[in-house]
Amino acid sequence: MTQTQTPPQAAPQYHQTDLPAEELIAQIDRLKQEKNAVVLAHNYQIPEIQDLADFTGDSLGLSVEASKTEADIIVFCGVHFMAESAKIMSPTKKVLLPHLGAGCSLADSITPESLDDWKQDYPDHTVVTYVNSTAEVKAESYICCTSANAVSVVRSLDNDKVLFTPDRNLGRWVAEQVPEKDVVIYDGVCPTHDVLRAASVKSTHEDYPEAVIIAHPECRQDVVEIAHEVCSTTGMLKAVEKYPDAKTFIIATENGMLHQLRLRFPHQEFVAADGCIGCRLHCPYMKITALQDVYFSLCEERYEIKLDDEVIAGARKALERMMAVPRDD
Ligand code: 13P
Repeated sequence: MTQTQTPPQAAPQYHQTDLPAEELIAQIDRLKQEKNAVVLAHNYQIPEIQDLADFTGDSLGLSVEASKTEADIIVFCGVHFMAESAKIMSPTKKVLLPHLGAGCSLADSITPESLDDWKQDYPDHTVVTYVNSTAEVKAESYICCTSANAVSVVRSLDNDKVLFTPDRNLGRWVAEQVPEKDVVIYDGVCPTHDVLRAASVKSTHEDYPEAVIIAHPECRQDVVEIAHEVCSTTGMLKAVEKYPDAKTFIIATENGMLHQLRLRFPHQEFVAADGCIGCRLHCPYMKITALQDVYFSLCEERYEIKLDDEVIAGARKALERMMAVPRDD
């Protein structure tokens, strides 16, 4: 099977426009109506895209939304594997990724071939694959999970022997919550989360000693251990509601999340955990999509996600099994 995550060799020509942001947003709205299109955005997208999207959420919420939309076209503002999941859940719809540079180094860390090699060493284990993976890898897996349901997914398995791929930080965190299972973990990471150290979070906490620390489970163990809450990006919105008297929250995830938190909770303060206004907690792939890319994507109906029927069928089974399991939060 070929891997679809890696962008093509010949770089596409991206158009440029001088249209101001308000005009681009108006044109995007017009094109959405004309073409019966929906814009889905991940919580890490630039604020302007989060604000114009019909739905903004975490990987699980976006997959669910993609599976039930009535639209003819889904413009997916996130990264490639997320748009693939939308195509898998809605194979008859046209799914567009506005910028082909929106990859994911964590997803690229496992290929169908490397998964196959690994499975041969553990023939009795059940493969649980984080959605940050290509469609081909999902198709070779028994079940998927996201950070919002990983613990429940692993707990739901009949088999006590589990291969967890590709994120080793999420895998370790899940294994700690489900000690009754033997969880063997692949050696991939999200570089944006893995770069953060507890020392940086502690130094930010010294500036805000009363703050509640919320971390994504893709963070390293030392960070997760000092967090008050560990959850998916949308789980963070629910976590804040548990602390109505807290004034400040330190957020250990990609900095796009700060926008959603500030929008929903305008009277509370949200600070990036790296102590440098989120400049390290910045995913270059998530931030590559600009407003003009969304506009050109809708104008020219590009870049369409195309997957083999066989891959869709296999990956869909793994995603549907996941969706039958409730969220952790
Ligand atoms: P969520 O599913 O929590 O939104 O996380 C997605 C992701 O890619 C984290 O790096």
